[in-house]
Amino acid sequence: MATKYVNAVISEEQNENSLPVLDGTLGPSAVDIQTLYARHSLLAFDPGFRSTAACKSAITFVDGDKGILLYRGYPIEELAESSSFVEVAYLLMFGDLPTPAQRQQFDLAIGNHNLLHEQVLSFYRGFRRDAHPMAVMVGVVGALSAFYHDVMNIRDANDRQLAAIRLVAKMPMLAAASYTYSVGRPQRYPNNKHDYATNFLQMMFGTPVQEFAVDPVLARALDVIFILHADHEQNASTSTVRLAASSGANPFACIAAGIASLWGPAHGGANEAVLKMLMEIGSVENIPKVIDRAKDKNDSFRLMGFGHRIYKNFDPRSRVIQGQAKKVLAHLGKDDPLLEIAMRLEEIALKDEYFIERKLYPNVDFYSGILLRAMGFPMNMFTAVFAVARTAGWVSHWLELQEESHGIDRPRQLYVGKTLRHYPGGK
Ligand code: CMC
Repeated sequence: MATKYVNAVISEEQNENSLPVLDGTLGPSAVDIQTLYARHSLLAFDPGFRSTAACKSAITFVDGDKGILLYRGYPIEELAESSSFVEVAYLLMFGDLPTPAQRQQFDLAIGNHNLLHEQVLSFYRGFRRDAHPMAVMVGVVGALSAFYHDVMNIRDANDRQLAAIRLVAKMPMLAAASYTYSVGRPQRYPNNKHDYATNFLQMMFGTPVQEFAVDPVLARALDVIFILHADHEQNASTSTVRLAASSGANPFACIAAGIASLWGPAHGGANEAVLKMLMEIGSVENIPKVIDRAKDKNDSFRLMGFGHRIYKNFDPRSRVIQGQAKKVLAHLGKDDPLLEIAMRLEEIALKDEYFIERKLYPNVDFYSGILLRAMGFPMNMFTAVFAVARTAGWVSHWLELQEESHGIDRPRQLYVGKTLRHYPGGK
């Protein structure tokens, strides 16, 4: 059968075949194909969603060609420089920076909900001690839906807001407990005299038997990591949360689905994979071999922390993280040879034709592992830290989706299986 083509012409004239073009406030316009099937019995085919805007959103804007990332219109560099994670969480959730009174109320709400139900802590004992923290987090966040299900009505805006705040507030203790359980240490509680990042650090590394003084430089670095990872528009995990939420599912279960999606090495799991790769490289002399492997089409190896579906330029977050990594290492008087390997690897890759042609640049995960390691985080907690931060974005998208009325998300498919056939011997 000869291949057929749809020849679309973009014009200002409307006829019976016309599909409207929708303009956003920034970024590419989108052809509204919602009536395509009803009118033409045709589906749009876009596996991997390379050309599909799955929703309208007013939260985050990414211009991958220019390397721009805005949260509610504010450049990520400005927020990383001057804001705090809790303020950014408020901005993402509610659309504007809080007034001092709103901020105070938000802090109070976070402080009221940052404890885990004591019964939740007993769940951890059911996991193997060597379980990956992300596996534990998928389970425990999903299990929270059993605690907050019948008591909440997702049709009620106040209940929805409370669920979103609970998730952001509880995530540090939940993530910290997945680590302390694995090392057999009793879990510390949050203390409302501390800010969000300081609380996370004291719950991760402190013990209940003595005061734990958190280094403010490390707390600020962690807050910056949280800000940078808080949202990134319709990435795999956020889209997973939206898809799960479109059925009206419990928000804790939706966020657990997002955590599962984030764990993969092509997404949030890359920060752990980058560090493993840098350790395997071991020294600057071995970089050319690794570059050759990354370019070899017969080798499945990829340069971890490089490339991005959207950024075809520098990921603005990678520059900020590199700066923080240098700052923290200098502050601690540490000299991490992996930083030198990473910087040299970046330099060599950015001059290599293969990476230039494909517009592959370092992404947010390239330096974050070095920074987290310098701060004392074990490697298997890297993606868990990402999950704590991204919860702010996930709940913001969850809140935004609840205001829409497009019903359940139900992608279609191009069926390529067997045509009708009959069971042997059947009637
Ligand atoms: N190393 C070597 N080659 C690469 C890499 C890489 N890291 N990334 C892409 N390519 C090549 C790929 O082989 C392909 O080559 P060709 O055109 O010859 O077939 C071309 O570049 C385009 O790749 P793609 O797979 O179509 O790109 P994508 O948009 O589907 O994938 C990605 C994006 C992030 C999954 C990919 O770049 C990758 O696997 N990177 C390494 C993992 C990583 O760092 N992930 C973190 C992403 S940022 C944080 C987050 O989202 O959570």
